[in-house]
Amino acid sequence: MIELASKTAFVTGGASGIGLALAQALAQEGMNVMLADIESNALAAAVGSLSDAGFKKVSCVNCDVADPDSVEKAAEATFKAFGAVHVVCNNAGVGGGTGIDDISVETWRWVLDVNLMGVLHGVRTFLPHMRAHGEGGHIVNTASMAGLNSGLGFSAYSASKFAVVNMSEGLAGELAPFDIGVTVVCPGFVRTRISESGRNRQERYGPRPIPAPGSHAARVAAALADLSKEGLAPLAVAKQVVTAIRRNELYVFTHAGSQWRTELEQRFNNILFAMDRAATGEGLM
Ligand SMILES: NC(=O)c1ccc[n+]([C@@H]2O[C@H](COP(=O)([O-])OP(=O)(O)OC[C@H]3O[C@@H](n4cnc5c(N)ncnc54)[C@H](O)[C@@H]3O)[C@@H](O)[C@H]2O)c1
Repeated sequence: MIELASKTAFVTGGASGIGLALAQALAQEGMNVMLADIESNALAAAVGSLSDAGFKKVSCVNCDVADPDSVEKAAEATFKAFGAVHVVCNNAGVGGGTGIDDISVETWRWVLDVNLMGVLHGVRTFLPHMRAHGEGGHIVNTASMAGLNSGLGFSAYSASKFAVVNMSEGLAGELAPFDIGVTVVCPGFVRTRISESGRNRQERYGPRPIPAPGSHAARVAAALADLSKEGLAPLAVAKQVVTAIRRNELYVFTHAGSQWRTELEQRFNNILFAMDRAATGEGLM
């Protein structure tokens, strides 16, 4: 467990939703917090709201997590502002389309670049620094329940989040000797602006796709937006994350209720069943 007070946290996607709540929860622990985000107006407003709430050791930097140079620059700005960084929350993410025929290649690239490569860039940028200062630390990667089940179907979002869960599990083993913990956050629905993710789609990925009314993609998007509106408060997620950092726990599940658990059990059972069949030789016939 690392002592959080007076240490520094870097939070991507810090301008909104879970990232902003993480910034607040970590500031509440006495940490300096650097919020990094692609949406500059929201970023400035987020720092203003935290400052108004009495958190003065909070700053912000523009950052596109999909661009490794941008993450490097954001890291430099953080070292300059606060010195050593101890907690890195790779949280920025975007919701992507679902459906075999509905997702363009540009949308696949956008979602994977932000949700997956964004986490990779955060890890690659900060890890050498964290290992070098030797004061211990923690990496928090925001995945999703969609990273553990395929309920969203053929989905760039699920693909990105499965990868984040896997990367985090592997990283936890690799970093244990360096006193750097890893937590992967797997929320169910949370009350944020995730259903408006297209607002931050970079021009290089082409225009924001608007699903045809009545299409599978339009129905899924509307259903997900409704579920998100009724979701958990972001701060409740952030408080669980702080506890997980303190206890050095790998997984945070915010919705451990029966539906999610049943789906997970089903998936694990299917995998184990197939392995058992292979072990008896039955699968070879
Ligand atoms: N809201 C949910 O129901 C839910 C559930 C599971 C997982 N998540 C995950 O939580 C994380 C946070 O999302 P949220 O729900 O708070 O949504 P949100 O839209 O409220 O916040 C996401 C933040 O990421 C920022 N962002 C987007 N692209 C970026 C980029 N290229 N570089 C830097 N910042 C960028 C946005 O500007 C925004 O401030 C995401 O990884 C998301 O996949 C959300």
